[in-house]
Amino acid sequence: MISTLHTRTYRGADGAPAPRLAYGADYNPEQWPREVWEEDVRLMREAGVNIVSLGIFSWARIQPGPDTWDFAWLDEVMDLLHEHGVGVDLATATASPPPWLTTAHPEILPVTERGETLWPGARQHWRPTSPVFREHALRLVRKLATRYAEHPALVAWHVNNELGCHNVYDYSDDAARAFRDWLRARYGTTDALNHAWGTAFWSQRYGDWEEILPPRLAASHPNPTQQLDFKRFSSDALKDYLRAERDLLRELTPDVPVTTNFMVMPGTKGMNYADWAGEVDFVANDHYVVPHPQARDELSFSANLTSGIAGGKPWFLMEHSTSAVNWQPVNLAKLPGDMARDSLTHVAHGADAVCFFQWRQSAAGAEKYHSAMVPHAGADSDLFRSVTALGDTLKTLAPVAGSEREPAEVGILFDWESRWASEQDSHPTSLLDYHQEALDWYSALLNLGIRADVVTTGADLSRHRVLIAPVLHLVPAELAKDLTRWAEQGGHLVTTYFSGVVDENDHVWLGGYPGALRDLLGIRVEEFGPLPAGQSVELDDDGTGSLWTDHVTVTAPETEVLVRYRTGAHAGRPAVTRRGAGSGSAAYVSTRLGADGLAALLPRLLEPAGVTSELPARARGRVEATVRRGPGGRFLFLVNRTDETVTVPGIAGEVLVGTTDDEGAVVLAGRAVAVLRTPTD
Ligand code: GAL
Repeated sequence: MISTLHTRTYRGADGAPAPRLAYGADYNPEQWPREVWEEDVRLMREAGVNIVSLGIFSWARIQPGPDTWDFAWLDEVMDLLHEHGVGVDLATATASPPPWLTTAHPEILPVTERGETLWPGARQHWRPTSPVFREHALRLVRKLATRYAEHPALVAWHVNNELGCHNVYDYSDDAARAFRDWLRARYGTTDALNHAWGTAFWSQRYGDWEEILPPRLAASHPNPTQQLDFKRFSSDALKDYLRAERDLLRELTPDVPVTTNFMVMPGTKGMNYADWAGEVDFVANDHYVVPHPQARDELSFSANLTSGIAGGKPWFLMEHSTSAVNWQPVNLAKLPGDMARDSLTHVAHGADAVCFFQWRQSAAGAEKYHSAMVPHAGADSDLFRSVTALGDTLKTLAPVAGSEREPAEVGILFDWESRWASEQDSHPTSLLDYHQEALDWYSALLNLGIRADVVTTGADLSRHRVLIAPVLHLVPAELAKDLTRWAEQGGHLVTTYFSGVVDENDHVWLGGYPGALRDLLGIRVEEFGPLPAGQSVELDDDGTGSLWTDHVTVTAPETEVLVRYRTGAHAGRPAVTRRGAGSGSAAYVSTRLGADGLAALLPRLLEPAGVTSELPARARGRVEATVRRGPGGRFLFLVNRTDETVTVPGIAGEVLVGTTDDEGAVVLAGRAVAVLRTPTD
């Protein structure tokens, strides 16, 4: 479907589709007087902008009262953009309900687990399950879709905005009703629910559906399966809302692709995007760099995971920032080169569009100190000059548009249900961070110069020789069977502490950990050994473990012990094991090693699969290599992870972006990116 987007947006002089990468931003003209719009479109042309997301927070402007509508300004903006060659990803404008609606219907406002109402005054103050909200929102969607169906600027529909950004968990009475319906559909009978939730514990048995509530603030730990189901339900409730808008749009404008902007980035956990991806015509994502020692690895990880969610197909970077944001404790400006590197890293991982929040930096409102393509300083600024330069680079990269990711030998499995389940309360440790563990494996592979694909559960395992599944905590019987079959047929599985422990109901697989994966791994753990914060253990390969240890017993003759604990409660016992399984293997890492420790261990774990770096030795760790492949060729992206110049010899191909020295080696200045094309066979 993303190809539909290309054909709708870009036509060559002969009228034939001319794919190129999209470039643009959220555009909020309603914040500016009319004369500024003229300057906007002129500057958009200068910068190479060819798409904007329009109308995201325009509900109150479009519909100032229950029965009053004002489209004149939007008609004018749409026409103006079209005249200047800018396509529109038109928002359905439902993200922030207007004051007249919340005044008339305060029952659409979300409620926290403590029973507090989230009042209007900011944005996204609506219950995902409110029938009243839905009725009003769909009325607006219908009006917009009917009015702009044939508008030549319309390229795609942008449902709501960042669904669930502020309202994913709503504990209101609407939510309680919808939760019960969802549970009825899942379990059929209260008996089945009682079994799944283990309600024999603490006298929680339900005799009637009406007795069931969302996990509101309780006297102690709420039932864990109730909590897990509430997470599943909350993700599904928003997905259901997305479908409602999408179905209406498809009915009214069947040829216009529909998307919504996901938030694959750290800290956003509530929406199971792997499950949502099938609901949109193309995947779109928002990503912001967060302050973190592995910040740029994290950006690459999120981009890579977005590609996994999109099934390796191209996707749309709907938002990132040209420089600082406004919502961190200290909002750092980007260094020169960072903006282009960040953008091109997303492109390297499959983005066919590079968009920002937002086009023009606001003069008023909560986001006035958030960077934009046109800063407060105006077009005569280093920032706008770098925006224009990036526009030129993206024009050069037009042949990349439409290409898909070339599968890597190594996959990292990111499993939403394990993420939710492993981080619940009343566990052996509250210090476990699912995302961080996955990121550490990713960083370790980057440090070794080895390409990896981040994939989600259900992806085709046969594409990968090695699958790293960190903290694969929740393993239904079927998944255990799939992994076992895949390993026996030659796949090499690597998993870690707290994996295989529970089934889909969050019930422990009995008989010893790692439960569902015990036989495949050829080990048994009788008791977990989490470590207090700041405490670590030494390993006999000179590594250091933290967070977690296990009392591991080898149970299969073919299980080798690769590393043992040297200190701590398990001194002398296995810390890292590997069992040969059929023509593959299954390895277990029982402690947290961190990115550096994993980089030291990984060559041994990858050895049976024969996976090594494709990069010349001097570039390993300093350069990230990523490959896209399509009709226009095979595109190798080389991203300099460091602030120093790195020279990469021996790389064949036509240099689309970047420079080479006299010997033909690619020269990457600090934070620079090169893109080379070779023909596909
Ligand atoms: C996103 C949102 C935008 C803007 C941006 C600021 O969450 O979609 O509207 O608020 O963050 O970083």
